[in-house]
Amino acid sequence: MSKIQNKKIIIAVTGSIAAYKIATLIRLFVKAGAEVQVLMTPAATAFISPLTLSTLSKRKVFTEIISEESWNNHVELGLWADAMIVAPTSATTLAKLAQGICDTIVTAVYLSARCPVFLAPAMDVDMWHHAATQRNITQVTIDGCRIIPVGNGELASGLSGDGRMAEPEEIFALIENFFTEKNELTGKKILVTAGPTYEALDPVRFIGNRSSGKMGYAVAEALANRGAEIILVSGPTQLKINHERVKIIRVESAQQMYNAALKYFDDCHAAVLTAAVADYRPVHIADSKIKKSDTVFTLELEKTPDIALALGERKKAAQIIVGFALETDREIEHATAKRRKKNFDFIVLNSLGDKGAGFNTDTNKVSFIFADDSVKHFELKSKTKVAQDIADELVRQFLK
Ligand code: PMT
Repeated sequence: MSKIQNKKIIIAVTGSIAAYKIATLIRLFVKAGAEVQVLMTPAATAFISPLTLSTLSKRKVFTEIISEESWNNHVELGLWADAMIVAPTSATTLAKLAQGICDTIVTAVYLSARCPVFLAPAMDVDMWHHAATQRNITQVTIDGCRIIPVGNGELASGLSGDGRMAEPEEIFALIENFFTEKNELTGKKILVTAGPTYEALDPVRFIGNRSSGKMGYAVAEALANRGAEIILVSGPTQLKINHERVKIIRVESAQQMYNAALKYFDDCHAAVLTAAVADYRPVHIADSKIKKSDTVFTLELEKTPDIALALGERKKAAQIIVGFALETDREIEHATAKRRKKNFDFIVLNSLGDKGAGFNTDTNKVSFIFADDSVKHFELKSKTKVAQDIADELVRQFLK
């Protein structure tokens, strides 16, 4: 039986072209046996009709706090729901939620809601990256909202970039996962490394890589959802996480990530090392900006400390380490060698040869390679789902 069955879900639709996708989202919840109450801002009704959404949800859709026939009791609705999803969350509604402005049925119910609130933002790339929007995202996150990450791709404006609303299937999977919390990892403390590292060259430049942190943050959230306490050591990324069981330690360089990981590892039951750590760093960091020269500029690099190797060496019998490998050729062979060298219990291989896998995508295609060299392949799926597969495997390894 789906954990969504009989759950009371408010889907609050606001003014964005992505509103057309909400018909699919409602269908997914209704098919899973949920009771769905749709709310719409007046702007949302310009993008999709209340009639469509009321037919799909099998309930009257509320578009106003006060309508001609009735006063819609936002307090009652706020108490009724097991979860509220604002999808799409437009820039305007986001700003109102951040400020507590109560001028639509959506913002009124939000202020009365005692249930978890999920926001699935949708806007154009420049609106999404605008300082005001990011300020509002920080504020609603502090207020306890969970942000469903935006996707990257073609936007309704014709531009391309961040700002696409997550697909309905992804939103549904996230909420389903939320209600499926199994808590098998309660009492476990797990270290997760995520994102890139930046190795400074001078006060303005660094050597970095294309990791966004999405894979690592998804792993941290999936493990926390199973009850684990997470120490998330994160390289520079825009991502945020709002979970009472996730403590974030923000670092910049490989050395700082190494120091933080070693500080916490001994007290942890497991580590999942998703970070793309720089293998080399400049030998000298210039005190002031390096000036342009007409000739070739040569940079002297030295090896950074290998965090995974150091943790693998000090690992106690009961501790589990999960490594990652991003490969471009002879993938299984290289990842297997890494697993052995670094003493990982299993390694998660992703290949840049697979479309939709690796850096800065919302999806990944992975294979797990185990201590007996056996391999388990997975299809392309969202990083949220890959993280759930990793959590499942970690639970199995703890039970061994
Ligand atoms: O962040 P995203 O945009 O979502 O992208 C996710 C990802 C592609 C970064 C992730 O899925 C991934 O593959 N991470 C590992 C990247 C990699 O190639 O690692 P590696 O082969 O250099 O290292 C192997 C393992 O050792 C990794 O677990 C790594 O975290 C660890 N390592 C490496 C070097 C080092 N100095 N310290 C380490 O701990």
